Amino acid sequence: MATSKQLQFLANDAIALEVFEGLSATPKRLPSKLFYDHIGSALFEQITELPEYYLTRTERSILESFAGDILQHAGTSLTLVELGAGTASKTCILIEELLRRQSRALFYPIDVSPSALQEAEAQLGRQFPGLRVNPIVADYTGGVPALSRISGRKLVLYIGSSIGNFEPDESVRILRRIRRTLRAGDALLLGADFAKSPKILLPAYDDSQGVTARFNQNILARLNRELDADFAVDRFRHVALWNRRQSRIEAHLESTTSQTAFISALDLDLSFAPGERIHTENSYKYTDAMIESILRDSGFTLEHTWCDRKKWFGVHLARV
Ligand code: AVI
Repeated sequence: MATSKQLQFLANDAIALEVFEGLSATPKRLPSKLFYDHIGSALFEQITELPEYYLTRTERSILESFAGDILQHAGTSLTLVELGAGTASKTCILIEELLRRQSRALFYPIDVSPSALQEAEAQLGRQFPGLRVNPIVADYTGGVPALSRISGRKLVLYIGSSIGNFEPDESVRILRRIRRTLRAGDALLLGADFAKSPKILLPAYDDSQGVTARFNQNILARLNRELDADFAVDRFRHVALWNRRQSRIEAHLESTTSQTAFISALDLDLSFAPGERIHTENSYKYTDAMIESILRDSGFTLEHTWCDRKKWFGVHLARV
């Protein structure tokens, strides 16, 4: 039962409510979106450069090899939209190819972070004089009604395997909300990681330099900073598991001792048994059939898939 102090706080803060519910549950869990404060976002950038983390460079190589073919399939006179664009670093590959085909183009990057969007706007503006960048600060998971006001043919980019961090039913809900704002002829470009041997997957999520471990532990450090908690962060070890039945990598923080923690802002006392885990992230890995069914259930038709030679990563074009 929540105390009245807890209820007052929770009513005002959706994130605090998720933390409260997640850490009061058995087994304990935390939402993976909490990873991405300024420290976590910088650690994620480091992850994308790690030798074991093949996802970013493989997707980049697919975009580099097939940008022309992708745009050919998407259609002429395109306006680009990107969900969760961040600094839009991989998008340059498609923009460069687009501006070879049409002298001017519009790009709508969508992200919750105004600073990442400013950086994208400045960088892309310098690099591509023919490009007009119209950033939209929004959480795309709830849908982006402004998209329906954009005229002309749209290609919506949802790359970087971001879809993998949502449960399959939540992915369908998100894509359906986006689908509602599109018209016949518009298309979606989805970047998703393929299911593969755990010998490849596990090191990608538990690297030898310990960057992913620090990324995971930062979630507790963040609760210490922002909710006045007192987690002994170094007494929680990073655990990455391959859950074959659910086709996902799971990240957990495992308590190495019997210990307690107090989250002052939530007035919440916690205790951990040795070996007890907090489940912090799922990263789904897809088969062709999973991709097809997510797209179909959200109202899209899969038209073409591009992948690398080893079929580690896929970039899928789906039509409204
Ligand atoms: C952001 N997302 C696609 C990453 C992934 O691969 O699921 C987050 C990540 N977690 C640990 N390493 C990277």
